Amino acid sequence: MSTAEDPRIEDLRARREATQLGGGADAIRKQHERGKLTARERIDLFLDRGTFEELDAFKTHRCRDFGMEDKVVPGDGVVSGFGRVDGRPVAVFAQDFTVFGGSLSGANAEKICKLMDVALKTGVPVVGLNDSGGARIQEGVVSLGGYAEIFLRNTLCSGVIPQLSAVMGPCAGGAVYSPAITDFIVMVENTSYMFVTGPNVVKTVTHEDVTSEDLGGASAHAVKSGVAHFRAADDAGALATLRRLLSFLPQNNTESPPVKAPTDDPNRAEERLNHIVPADPNRPYDMKEVVRLVVDDGDLLEVHDGYAENIVVGFARLNGRPVGIVANQPQILAGCLDIHASVKAARFVRFCDAFNIPLVTFEDVPGFLPGTDQEWNGIIKHGAKLLYAYCEATVPKLTVITRKAYGGAYDVMSSKHIRGDWNAGWPSAEVAVMGAKGAVEIIFKKEISAAKDPVAAEAAKTAEYRERFANPYVAAEMGYLDDVIEPKLTRPKLIQALTYFSTKRDKNPPKKHGNIPL
Ligand code: HXC
Repeated sequence: MSTAEDPRIEDLRARREATQLGGGADAIRKQHERGKLTARERIDLFLDRGTFEELDAFKTHRCRDFGMEDKVVPGDGVVSGFGRVDGRPVAVFAQDFTVFGGSLSGANAEKICKLMDVALKTGVPVVGLNDSGGARIQEGVVSLGGYAEIFLRNTLCSGVIPQLSAVMGPCAGGAVYSPAITDFIVMVENTSYMFVTGPNVVKTVTHEDVTSEDLGGASAHAVKSGVAHFRAADDAGALATLRRLLSFLPQNNTESPPVKAPTDDPNRAEERLNHIVPADPNRPYDMKEVVRLVVDDGDLLEVHDGYAENIVVGFARLNGRPVGIVANQPQILAGCLDIHASVKAARFVRFCDAFNIPLVTFEDVPGFLPGTDQEWNGIIKHGAKLLYAYCEATVPKLTVITRKAYGGAYDVMSSKHIRGDWNAGWPSAEVAVMGAKGAVEIIFKKEISAAKDPVAAEAAKTAEYRERFANPYVAAEMGYLDDVIEPKLTRPKLIQALTYFSTKRDKNPPKKHGNIPL
């Protein structure tokens, strides 16, 4: 038997090696100078070491215009395949900016679509690492068709497998709509941007002077628009965020989220919670501190931490089981629900429901934010989104009312009436149509103005109303609260409830799809 290497194997090795170079050493150097990793470096950092199985490394574009026949790079500007994160399979693609600026050709789109099709069939999450100059200009409409094929798959995968996007470079024009349909977007500060039209078009149309960073950088989208759910200081930080996010998620909508071996005492009583709500109902406290004192190891992966901060949403664990946290934040706008908070929480609730992640709601909400701005911009339809999301959710829904549960916001925030499974109040809970002062000003208006001392009369009536309604017991008497609990026992009580309701089965009536107020 000959020991000489088969030349066909040597040829394969040489071809394989060529696929690793992307746009070549010069382009890689430029990529690094921009503060960015290459597509392959990103995939290596993202996946468990040595687990990447590439698909379509040899695929090339078919464009024969503008001298493109002489510029053929194997892989054609996107690296795609399967690998593992914490041992669990994941599909990943990374646009390679070193090849035609990572622009999307027909072939390049086919690679992404193939990956998504397999991920959908096999039930594994898809992660897209975006860094692209947009449609491959030399290919024209072929490229636009490629985008549309991806958008279609993003939509069909929605609610079936988790889809996560990192934006790690340019992402402009219609290209933004693929990440936008996915479940979560993480953006890298200073090196990434997303916009429908760039600064030049903006200048022409609206005469505004704005930089790419100000218009569509990570801060703009994490704070102003809410398009980005997370931001990271660099590529490595963004990839670490994606890995952490995946650790809370099931592989697909038929699975339960992964349970970790518990690292925190399920019976931990937290004395500080007994003193956290101030005696004065108008004084704020930090709801994030409440959440951290309750969940395993104080560990909360906050989503949208810089956007609509009057509501806090994120992932945590209770005795090792992932839960989605939704919490009013009395420190910001007194915890009122406004348009942004409603939309932020509604999308989060729907994500958790789609992927079997139980919802834990911490409630301290004085109502919807009043004002012309809110009314004219549609707080009615946007607030309705959150109501709709909670109503349709069939995952276990556990709620703790820490203080205010006023008005329509009481109904919205996972109340018993909309299929809340276990609803408890702290002794500081005030379940009422509105605050005592506002209520008295309306229902005792005549008595107060006719009184000899209207100030004293109002104070007396306020105290009476407060005594009667500003507590959890009226709701508990009606069965609208399942229990009134000592705050320090919130963690063990929630863990018990979660255990009991983990076998919950509930269904919505058969339908093509609902008509959420958009
Ligand atoms: C083909 C592209 C390209 C594109 C960049 N390149 N974008 N090739 N199609 N869309 C190439 C460049 O020619 C260059 O090739 C290399 O990528 C790197 O680009 P540079 O311009 O040198 O990099 P930089 O200075 O960092 O600027 C990056 C950029 C810029 C801001 C993204 O390249 C740019 O403005 N590109 C065009 C963006 C655009 O208009 N795209 C189409 C949008 S419409 P060489 O060979 O010189 O290294 C669209 C519609 C989508 O996307 C619709 C979906 C529904």
